[in-house]
Amino acid sequence: MAVTPPKGTHDIIAAEALAYDYIESVCQHVASNYGFDPIRTPIFESTDLFSRGVGESSDIVNKEMYTFLDKGQRSISLRPENTAGVARSVISNKLYATADLPLKFSYNGPMFRYERPQLGRFRQFHQFGVENIGASTIYDDLETIMLAYNTLQLLGFKNLVLKINSLGDQITRNNYKSALKTFFGEKIDSMCSDCHTRYKTNPLRILDCKVPMDQELVKFAPSINQYLSENSKDEFEFIKNELNEFKIPYIVDEKLVRGLDYYSGIIFEFHYITSDGKDYGAIGGGGHYDRLVNQLGGPALEGVGFAFGIERLYSILRDENLLQEELIDNSCDAYIMTFGKKPREAGFELANRLRMFDFRVKINFEDKPFKSLFKIAERTKSKYALIIGDNELEQGFITVKDLTTKEQVEIGVEEIVDFLEGRIVR
Ligand code: HAM
Repeated sequence: MAVTPPKGTHDIIAAEALAYDYIESVCQHVASNYGFDPIRTPIFESTDLFSRGVGESSDIVNKEMYTFLDKGQRSISLRPENTAGVARSVISNKLYATADLPLKFSYNGPMFRYERPQLGRFRQFHQFGVENIGASTIYDDLETIMLAYNTLQLLGFKNLVLKINSLGDQITRNNYKSALKTFFGEKIDSMCSDCHTRYKTNPLRILDCKVPMDQELVKFAPSINQYLSENSKDEFEFIKNELNEFKIPYIVDEKLVRGLDYYSGIIFEFHYITSDGKDYGAIGGGGHYDRLVNQLGGPALEGVGFAFGIERLYSILRDENLLQEELIDNSCDAYIMTFGKKPREAGFELANRLRMFDFRVKINFEDKPFKSLFKIAERTKSKYALIIGDNELEQGFITVKDLTTKEQVEIGVEEIVDFLEGRIVR
């Protein structure tokens, strides 16, 4: 029986993989314009990092982590996200011991969550994200939202929905949690068992409940905005005014709380519905966190960041025809067709030479009929066929066929590089 891929995983092949590279390179490029340097943290970490960082009351930690004991009986988890990992790295490497705060890092790579697979939801998926650690002003939050927005603009997203909210400071959240407890107090018995637990551990999480009956109740719950402290209100107003100023459309979603426990202050999410009505879920989200670094044993540094889901970005760009062919081009410049032992030796040498001149070259190593080779050349989107048989070898030329115009010429072996350089746009 053939081995099947684990549920919720997927292979990203050829042109699709190139599209992922392209998307990640645009994200990385824009992030570097904003002063973010790349960082790579381990794919697995101590489970403790995520319980303390992402939070015991979050679904991610509670239900969705891939956790196992390693051979040394340590509890290890595959990272469900990268914010905690970056914060841990800042602490482990004492990167905070610098006058040059904030520290700005960007990352991309696979994340793992044991979720129910559905449209846009995988168990292994990829994120591109940034973390600004040591973020101490509201400008850091604004800059982070603008970085995310501008990246999406550059990728070609047009009808974005940016949702924003504020979770305020610690006092705000404590007051709000009490208000939620009062509101849900009489109703909690009729709600799902997860909400029972959430009620006790962190009533904010009830707002994220996916059970339709509970969602109906959530609609009438008080919103956090009534509980914002003066300072949090001012900061929220500042963000809204600046977004207006920069003509970045947004909606205030008073029930947006985000599913990770570390958030405080400004939080945001980007959504997009495709022209044929597909909703892949949030394409990215993030926000401010005030205690994460401290909770993990580091100094009291605040932070702000976001992450995009690359699978979701890719699916939307593909569905909306926003991925330009040339950006994910895996076509071949020249397909070398050789016939027989000696021509193959010459073809092999030529392929090697052309590749050193940065041409994308394929070559047949097995004898195949002329027709099949042309079929392969067509399927691999080759621009030129370079044909070498005994005749060509004896006379020192190559038969070159332009596979678009079907024109055929004979080019001296020494002139082939110049010939292709003059014709292939790179
Ligand atoms: P998150 O909202 O959990 O935030 O994930 C960010 C993005 O990852 C989501 O908006 C979505 O596009 C994508 N994503 C999440 N789960 C899946 C899945 N199962 N399959 C496919 N895509 C998925 C975070 O992870 C935070 N660490 C973001 C952040 C950074 N906040 C501050 N700094």
